Amino acid sequence: MKKFLLKHQKLIIILFLLVFFFSTNLLCFFIKSSFDYNKPVGHEYSSAEVLNFPKDFLWGAATASYQVEGGNIYSNWWKFEQEEGKIKNGDRTDVALDHYDLYEQDFDLMNQMNLNSYRFSIEWSRIENEKGVFNNEEVEHYKNVIIALRKRGIEPMVTLWHHSLPTWFENEGGWEKEENIKYYEEYVSFVLKNLSDEVDFWLTMNEPMAYISCGYISGKWPPAKQDISKVKPLFSNLVQAHKRAYEIIHSNDKNAKVGIAEHSSYAVPYHKNNLIENEATYIIDYFWTHYLLEKVKGELDFIGLHYYYRQYINIDLVKNLANQSLADFEEQSMDRSYYPEGLFEVLVRMKKYDLPIYITEIGVPDYHEIDRDQFIIEHLIEVHYALQAGVDVKGFYYWALLDSFEWNEGYDAKFGLIAVDLETLKRSIKQESWEYAESAKCSCVKQVGK
Ligand code: FCB
Repeated sequence: MKKFLLKHQKLIIILFLLVFFFSTNLLCFFIKSSFDYNKPVGHEYSSAEVLNFPKDFLWGAATASYQVEGGNIYSNWWKFEQEEGKIKNGDRTDVALDHYDLYEQDFDLMNQMNLNSYRFSIEWSRIENEKGVFNNEEVEHYKNVIIALRKRGIEPMVTLWHHSLPTWFENEGGWEKEENIKYYEEYVSFVLKNLSDEVDFWLTMNEPMAYISCGYISGKWPPAKQDISKVKPLFSNLVQAHKRAYEIIHSNDKNAKVGIAEHSSYAVPYHKNNLIENEATYIIDYFWTHYLLEKVKGELDFIGLHYYYRQYINIDLVKNLANQSLADFEEQSMDRSYYPEGLFEVLVRMKKYDLPIYITEIGVPDYHEIDRDQFIIEHLIEVHYALQAGVDVKGFYYWALLDSFEWNEGYDAKFGLIAVDLETLKRSIKQESWEYAESAKCSCVKQVGK
């Protein structure tokens, strides 16, 4: 059965989609308004010169351990990046940005930019580079990182797992196996035993659906499989793992705030009034973002929301699925564009969970040639409207603090507020980061010509 499923996976997806579209089309026609993704909620723009944010709003920036630290030799990504052709330009993370050693410099620069919160991740493969062997020195390192933040008045938000996994865990079958969840529980317990007094905000994991999609559908990330039969067990194991981590964190600190970092996009049908695209948009949005939140919402103190772009859903691509690889399909379906208004819509759609929201990632790479200041300010304006529409947004973390190692893209995709010279490791705040710094200072946005 499994062999059959694997062999015919593309055909099965197409059949499933056709049956689904066909059978729901009629229904959708009658209740179109509830499915209609052509109709944004929208809002009026204010002409006020200054939009004030709550005084306790968190103005932050984010990173992830593997992308900035360097030398994470026990990680599955380390193994992966040694393989020919996996990373653009053959880029490597031997040193990366050496944030592992230079974090104090980076936090001084955060102070210069008035940022009052930092989202970063703990590298599981450092804490437990061998199964069951926990490293006190490494957890001490992260304690020092947190002390350095607090000394500068910067609130830490800690991600327990951000894409990179210990190689031994992946060799054991990683998240594919339910019995492996216990390893994650052990790791989380160890970290919490040591750091629960220091940290108030925890994220159990980063973008589980992106991990599943890139690791097991397109196969562009480790473990580089293309096997949709794994999607269901992976999803259910990750949901369970989140719930267990939630309990462990709360049993160590009942006042801790525990979230999950979930990505979103503003999905819209490519062809206006195309009923099938409209439905597909609903389904994709549901499965990419909301399904996971629905599953974990009982064990969640806040939502860590990621928003980068508007994503067009184009059914012509699905029709062509039979003639192309899943990886090509994924590539083409990334018809993405910068669209601040989409953030407002996405936030309003989140209102139903009745949970505080921290935007834990939002950013733009240099190669898009979009003015970063403008990008940030326009998105902040939308956050302000969402606040007025009653969405409880409590923080905004620009991705990324530093130009980092961007997974398959290597160092080419530069998202940072701070540029890093990879030879000298010299840091410099980019010119286009200062307007964000100004906003962080006044907890406000000064509108320019909206
Ligand atoms: C997010 C990832 C983050 C970074 C940004 C650009 O999806 O969580 O590590 O790669 O995209």
